[in-house]
Amino acid sequence: MKKILVIGAGGQIGSELVVELRKRFGADSTVASDIREPQSGLSGEGPFEVLDVMDNERLKEIVAKHEIKEVYLLAALLSATAEKNPEFAWKLNMEGLFNVLNLAKEGVIKKVFWPSSIAVFGPTTPKKDTPQLTIMEPSTVYGISKLAGERWCEYYANQYGVDVRSIRYPGLLSYTTLPGGGTTDYAVDIFYSAKKNEPFSCFLKEDTALPMMYMADAIRATVDLMEAPDDSIKIRSSYNLAGISFTPKEIYEAVKKLNPDFTIEYNPDFRQQIADSWPGSIDDSAAQTDWGWNPEYDLESTAKIMFDNVLTEVHD
Ligand code: SER
Repeated sequence: MKKILVIGAGGQIGSELVVELRKRFGADSTVASDIREPQSGLSGEGPFEVLDVMDNERLKEIVAKHEIKEVYLLAALLSATAEKNPEFAWKLNMEGLFNVLNLAKEGVIKKVFWPSSIAVFGPTTPKKDTPQLTIMEPSTVYGISKLAGERWCEYYANQYGVDVRSIRYPGLLSYTTLPGGGTTDYAVDIFYSAKKNEPFSCFLKEDTALPMMYMADAIRATVDLMEAPDDSIKIRSSYNLAGISFTPKEIYEAVKKLNPDFTIEYNPDFRQQIADSWPGSIDDSAAQTDWGWNPEYDLESTAKIMFDNVLTEVHD
């Protein structure tokens, strides 16, 4: 049986990825790990280990104990949090990656998934339908760490034959686990206010378009990429991935159809500058051509699922 380790399993992506991997490959196939024990739900379904990804010895111990062959490394600080603690963000985002890539280089593990982000792009990047290959001058700590990480992934693939695969995730919308510390988080927060019928204070301006995606699409993309034949993976830095692209005003209008009384006001903060440096939409034709990527959810269907499923008590 395939043995997989998900690092950062308690986070927004990890909590749903673990469920999907266990569904596809069996409950015992996937060891969930996080820096702290999950509050509920996660560990009960299969194995769980406490792991700080910067603790290389503990990482090696868990990989040996469970005979892990694939690692999904999701532990990281997101863009807004990283700006508040740049040195720690750099340390966490890079050390974790090196620890995992080195296990692959030594042949202990066979395959690595590492998430990159639209944050690798910067103010000088073309904003519309941002190409796979383009100017990349990120202006955030998070973006700098992701771009450096991409270069290291490609280096390990080329120099050491490491099978590492990566996606530049857009902002992700999901209702089970909240995102933490990102610039795209408003697009999740808005549903909690709408459900509670409270006015929503948006930390971005109404016309700030950003690439986004419903989590089910992101999870499918992630596992499809990891399951694609090795020779179909032509890009070892990271693949552009597009789903939907919208502004705060556009998502507000989609949510207002579900709650006609819902109101919004715009109070941009430091995250506006981060958002202004990122693309508005993404060209993901390489992912489509190489491993058959095709998104399913548009803004309307995403808004409906989010509105119907957010549980307001977890957000209070
Ligand atoms: N969603 C992330 C953030 O806002 C981008 O990868 O930081």
